[in-house]
Amino acid sequence: MSSLVTLFDKTFEPFLPELLIQEKISELASLINNDYTGKKPLFIAILNGSFMFASDLFKQIDIEAEICFIKLASYKGTKSTGQVITAIGLDIDINDRHVIIIEDIIDTGKTLNQFLPQLQHQQPASLKIAVLLHKPEATIYPVPIDYCCFSIPNKFVLGYGLDYDGYGRNLKEIYQLKTVE
Ligand code: IMP
Ligand code: MG
Repeated sequence: MSSLVTLFDKTFEPFLPELLIQEKISELASLINNDYTGKKPLFIAILNGSFMFASDLFKQIDIEAEICFIKLASYKGTKSTGQVITAIGLDIDINDRHVIIIEDIIDTGKTLNQFLPQLQHQQPASLKIAVLLHKPEATIYPVPIDYCCFSIPNKFVLGYGLDYDGYGRNLKEIYQLKTVE
């Protein structure tokens, strides 16, 4: 595994190696292949952060399935009540479909907590959530997580699609903010 990564004012250290990430994704894909046989699920990947996870996960799906992408942005104002806006919307009818949301990370839970009711409103046949990372200690808005690769401590992470101010998404492994000694 490679060494430290510095972006702007912050230094990150290796946390989850590429091979481990790929192993966990394969395990998760097997579960989904099993659970959704014959159901023609529709994966909805949430941009930007989930693009790498969505790609690697979808490559391991060997049942009939579709994938589409939406873009959500959450704006944290000066107050703690932020708004989640849809920057690129859903262009596919999810009524009666078995939907699986693909998200990079559940942090506070705000993004999905606000977005899920919009999907439920369209009455999918089922709605489940697959996430690469979950920070249980940071989650204050409840989100039902059905498939999760890693539960991680409440520290900022970078790489494999996740960014710090737009950069670092291209790293193949996941890094964690280095604690100052
Ligand atoms: P939420 O707080 O669960 O709504 O997370 C909102 C979004 O913030 C996630 O989908 C990620 O794109 C981003 N995010 C949360 N935690 C991290 C992190 O540790 N590193 C990079 N992006 C993060
Ligand atoms: Mg995201």
